[in-house]
Amino acid sequence: MAIRFAILTVSDRSFHGQREDKAGPALVEAVRDQGWQVVDQGVVPDDFAAIRAVLEAWSDREDVDIILTTGGTGFAPRDITPEATRSVIEREAPGLAEAMRAASLRITPHAMLSRAVAGIRGRTLIVNLPGSPKAAVENFAVIVPVLPHAVQLLREAPDAEQGHAHHGPDHAR
Ligand code: MTE
Repeated sequence: MAIRFAILTVSDRSFHGQREDKAGPALVEAVRDQGWQVVDQGVVPDDFAAIRAVLEAWSDREDVDIILTTGGTGFAPRDITPEATRSVIEREAPGLAEAMRAASLRITPHAMLSRAVAGIRGRTLIVNLPGSPKAAVENFAVIVPVLPHAVQLLREAPDAEQGHAHHGPDHAR
């Protein structure tokens, strides 16, 4: 399934050219390794309005299925990515963030310091990932297996339920 991604690096230092953005390119590679597409990429500072503006613009586009953000999910005073994400999503998808934290806890106790959120705006899924390239790619790998089905459901394809085992009678709709 062709899944189209946009990747947003949230970092004051990368935005001001004081640190090369390595997490964004690492995620681009991880997405392409799956045979998926990256249709846009950007860098914004740790600024609520700036993050919000890009998330809104990208999720309102028809060619973006999933937005990945990297950075700004920790406890530092400037870390505001989760709040900006919450301000644009219409439905939260806590299972993705829970799974990433659970898997990451086996790698580092610092996973407890991730405040990352995931949620849906229109037909676009937005997922916060941590800022380090290693952590961003590790967390992305956790959710990779469910993304095709997630996107299929968001597109409301008529066959989206085909993969499910049915136990007992179907619910009336
Ligand atoms: N998850 C994995 N898999 N690997 C990691 O190294 N680092 C953690 C955590 N999640 C990490 C991880 C750390 S140190 C922090 S502070 C939080 O993610 C948030 O990262 P951020 O502030 O860079 O967004």
